[in-house]
Amino acid sequence: MKVTVVGAGNVGATCADVLAYREIANEVILVDIKEGMAEGKALDIWQKAPINLYDTHTSGVTNDYSKTAGSDVVVITSGLPRKPGMTRDDLIETNAGIVKSVTEQVIKYSPEAVIIVVSNPLDVMTYQAHITSKMPRSKVMGMAGILDTARYKAFLSEALNVSPKDIQAVLMGGHGDTMVPLPRYTTVGGIPVTELIEKEKLDVIIERTKFGGGELVKLMGTSAWYAPGSAAAQMVEAIVRDQKRVFPVCVKLEGEYGIDDCYLGVPVILGKEGIEKVIELDLNEDEKALLESSRQHVKEVMAVLERLG
Ligand code: NAI
Ligand code: 2OP
Repeated sequence: MKVTVVGAGNVGATCADVLAYREIANEVILVDIKEGMAEGKALDIWQKAPINLYDTHTSGVTNDYSKTAGSDVVVITSGLPRKPGMTRDDLIETNAGIVKSVTEQVIKYSPEAVIIVVSNPLDVMTYQAHITSKMPRSKVMGMAGILDTARYKAFLSEALNVSPKDIQAVLMGGHGDTMVPLPRYTTVGGIPVTELIEKEKLDVIIERTKFGGGELVKLMGTSAWYAPGSAAAQMVEAIVRDQKRVFPVCVKLEGEYGIDDCYLGVPVILGKEGIEKVIELDLNEDEKALLESSRQHVKEVMAVLERLG
């Protein structure tokens, strides 16, 4: 299996590293526009192979997509990250142009590839990749839900003093402050989380999760990369190993949840065909209202993209 990661910055390089040391693909190609950056990081990852004992070959290239030809999966991480004081939506103009030009090149050389978008604002950049690639929705998706859910699980694991491995959870909606955590669907070793933690404490964790990306931007002056890069690699693994994993993924809704023509995070089954099924949860009225407000927010940012042309 051949996987291309576009953008050899913090998230892209981390994703390539995880793909290599976990031997998720046979070959990983890293692409960047900055001369030498992808080549250097890919070489560094390859030189780690004899130490960490893997044989996934990694190589890098500056803007030459012919080297990416025949990729099974392409992860797009190219674009500006946010700085303190910025929202993800502030990145739209620059990143839309980058995602559009990258997608054109990707599709030219790998017309069968499954595309996973990471660049922000995530839901709308996934939409951008979809309209540029003209691929079916099963093959163009965005990574955010696994990351947001991981943050929620990490906070819960500390609060409950349990292993993060034992927490099952799902978050829905856009990748932003309007994301929709679902405590009703959160369990710890099979036990509903609501039986293990007071509502007030859970509410604090939910709020922290919603602003989890901003917390890291404030601490580091740029956005996170270890968890985002690993989350994207986990999606690649589900596809190349046809694992049929159930993950929250940003996908174009076509009537599910009563929503049409909008990219939003929902639980899906991920396998070799990409998104093999969108799972429709039976949401209660409060959850539906939260999802609707998330949809409205994403639609507003989609409208900005449309105005940009
Ligand atoms: P970074 O600045 O470390 O890396 C971005 C890389 O993209 C740079 O190396 C840059 O040279 C490259 N690039 C720019 N234009 C390009 C082009 N046309 N072709 C190829 N490469 C190009 O940024 P970082 O931290 O890796 O973040 C990347 C993106 O991912 C940002 O938009 C960020 O907001 C987003 N992000 C999304 C997350 C999510 O959950 N969906 C989580 C974390 C970051
Ligand atoms: C994050 O949530 C910035 O979207 C990025 O870390």
